[in-house]
Amino acid sequence: MRNRDRKIFGVFLAITLILATGVTLSARSTSKENKGAMEITKEEFGHTPDGRTVNLYTLKNANGMTVKITNYGGIVTELMVPDGSGRLGDIVLGFDNLKEYLAGDPYFGALIGRYGNRIAKGKFTLDGKAYSLATNNNGNHLHGGIKGYDKVVWSASEVRSPEGVGLKLNYLSKDGEEGYPGNLNITVVYLLTPMNELKIDYAATADRPTPVNLTHHSYFNLAGAGKGTILDHEVMLNADAYTVVDASLIPTGEIRKVSGTPFDFTKPKTIGAEISKVEGGYDHNFVLTRKAYGLQMAARVYDPTSARLMEVWTTEPGLQFYTGNFLDGSIKGKCGLVYPKNGGFCLEAQHYPDSPNHPEFPSTILNPGATYRQQTVYRFDIKK
Ligand code: GLA
Repeated sequence: MRNRDRKIFGVFLAITLILATGVTLSARSTSKENKGAMEITKEEFGHTPDGRTVNLYTLKNANGMTVKITNYGGIVTELMVPDGSGRLGDIVLGFDNLKEYLAGDPYFGALIGRYGNRIAKGKFTLDGKAYSLATNNNGNHLHGGIKGYDKVVWSASEVRSPEGVGLKLNYLSKDGEEGYPGNLNITVVYLLTPMNELKIDYAATADRPTPVNLTHHSYFNLAGAGKGTILDHEVMLNADAYTVVDASLIPTGEIRKVSGTPFDFTKPKTIGAEISKVEGGYDHNFVLTRKAYGLQMAARVYDPTSARLMEVWTTEPGLQFYTGNFLDGSIKGKCGLVYPKNGGFCLEAQHYPDSPNHPEFPSTILNPGATYRQQTVYRFDIKK
């Protein structure tokens, strides 16, 4: 080999070696990440006014996806998911500390019950007996009343299963609480899986017939909480009808086809595309198109700025799509960021609103001896 050729060969060899080492190193670090254990840690979050200690649990999977949940209200306070370039970002609205949650908020990240959504005038009749629930929303009952499950301390235990890490929450809702009949024993399990899914499993039993409609109330902004509005997010809802509501958001009983209306999300479109045609913005129960019982995809949301994708799967018949219409910039959230109108959206899997007053809707009555169950999965990915 001539001197010049030797030099060229040497440089070639050096480059090959550097590249090979780089590939091996990155492969090693990836395999280490993949093997990284699922983690759950616990820290104190604060105290309620009556002196009860409240904790904050951090669930983490091998991809770095992190979910923080407090046993006050079962609130998801933080949800860190990767964007298109692998950077983690917090995509749920909320607060940095318990004090701010205690001061009251529009159900950020909370578990909702005994009845998610509205019951007209808080009144219904069951087995010939009239019941009067606490009213907290224009004379109607909303999200379980004055002190719903979003404002109680749940007992908590950590879950480690082959499926993921999680938090098991339990609450005994006493007979008469907020006007509801019967004791209701509720268990909710939040599970973070290696597939970047947040699974929520609900179960409940009662000692008297009672309406039950549990749901989860995270406000998502896939671009990042506090980063503007969600109007440019693209949404697909697997729903060919919705329940028509009156001015106070109580169903009239009519189930209307979405086709030809601003409620048609059967093909993806931006939230902002037709929101101005809907008075107040979207705050409606969509009737999911179902061929069978079981877990089924209900919604898919995509944010082009971050490339984040979210799918919602559920066993429920309905999905409340709420576009944060009552946010007005007056709430300062995490890191001092302000949440503007339409700064987040909720996809609350549930039975239809006011079902106890609409025998034609799927029943929400739980009888003693039976078990209420629902499962909802929020699944995160990026568009490739
Ligand atoms: C639900 C309701 C909305 C509103 C929010 C909380 O999603 O459907 O009307 O009350 O909760 O502000």
